[in-house]
Amino acid sequence: MTHGISAIRGMNDILPEEVVYWQFIEQQLRALFASYGYIEIRPPLLERTEVFSRSIGVATDIVAKEMYTFSDRNGENLTLRPEGTAGCVRAVIEHHLAYKKACRFWMMGPMFRYERPQKGRYRQFYQVGVEALGLPGPDIDAELIFMSQRLWRQLGLSDDLVLQLNSLGDSATREKYREVLKNYFITHYDQLDEDSKKRLETNPLRILDSKNRELETLIQDAPKITQFLDETSRQNLKTLEALLTEARIRFVLNSRLVRGLDYYDGMVFEWETQLLGAQGAVCGGGRYNGLVECLGGESIPAVGFAIGMERLVEVLKAKQTMFPICPPDVYIVRVGERGGEEGLLLAEYLRDELPFLKVLSYMGEGGFKQQLRQADKSGARIALILGETEIASGKVSLKFLREEKPQQIFSKEEIKTILMSYFS
Ligand code: HAM
Repeated sequence: MTHGISAIRGMNDILPEEVVYWQFIEQQLRALFASYGYIEIRPPLLERTEVFSRSIGVATDIVAKEMYTFSDRNGENLTLRPEGTAGCVRAVIEHHLAYKKACRFWMMGPMFRYERPQKGRYRQFYQVGVEALGLPGPDIDAELIFMSQRLWRQLGLSDDLVLQLNSLGDSATREKYREVLKNYFITHYDQLDEDSKKRLETNPLRILDSKNRELETLIQDAPKITQFLDETSRQNLKTLEALLTEARIRFVLNSRLVRGLDYYDGMVFEWETQLLGAQGAVCGGGRYNGLVECLGGESIPAVGFAIGMERLVEVLKAKQTMFPICPPDVYIVRVGERGGEEGLLLAEYLRDELPFLKVLSYMGEGGFKQQLRQADKSGARIALILGETEIASGKVSLKFLREEKPQQIFSKEEIKTILMSYFS
């Protein structure tokens, strides 16, 4: 016996029962983005590695440990995108999309990170992201958060997600803060774990993000970035807080929120849930005013966020939100020599005449009873039957599968009229 080939660890098949959740969310998102004036952009999945190393930062976990990087047949160093922002910015610069005008984009698709797979953390996962370029904020920052909050409301999740907010200031702020933080942790060097000791040199801000409970007090007592913020960042954060309060969006100021990508400056945020255990961040984003210039464009302010689709679907499931797979409306049962052909033609006729109708035709050699059983299992409400008698008279029998009503024979046109009034 041969063994089947399984999917790559951390890369999931999204099966039909789950796809209905995805489709529902995607539908909501498309309408939501349109209502805020965002348009879709689709950068490729593969980019030159430097697009990510230059933007996300070589000292981050993503670039240092998690990228799917390889040389192609030409010897070019390429990487499967670990996130969407860098590729979007590369495209914006290459096609001069933000030249002297603001632009708002949304994107949807798979990302790849070589992380240790566990519930809510995968090696291929999907993000839906938005990026607004050319706008300094904080009004657009507030609007982005309003937009995400509106989505949670539409999905019935308003009470399940908490907004965490922080500001990382400008580059001078971070430079100064990095030194202060480094000195603080050096004075407590013996209490640090191995991971944090490594981060002390490469990226001390990330120590604040540690999940190690033994470091809890040490991190709590560390100096806060808010004490070092530049005037513009401080003002922007204050205005944003006021706008959120005005819009009745609850938030928690979290000075430990540093995000895992180096391109951020100014305001950063995450929406978190308690429903998913360790991987509670459903959406994250913030300002990245230096990124366009860092990737070779002119200096343009920018802000955005991305939602993790798998995690959002998990939240909906944890809330027991049910999305049943949509059954067909009509199932075509056909027997006899010409049944197969007539059945296919009848299905096409119905699709021409009633484009909203979902029609499933039996295929294969099964007998009448077997076909009726399949019709019942499919969840369809009506079976249309084409037997010898029906075909000889050019008619079709209609059987209600979920109601106690007599089976009746009709012309094709009558069937069309009945289905039209029944399903509209
Ligand atoms: P991020 O926080 O790295 O930000 O990812 C955004 C979201 O993607 C996370 O909140 C989480 O829901 C989901 N996610 C991340 N990694 C995984 C994983 N391994 N498995 C499953 N879900 C995951 C960014 O990627 C930024 N580009 C967001 C952004 C856009 N900032 C500005 N514009």
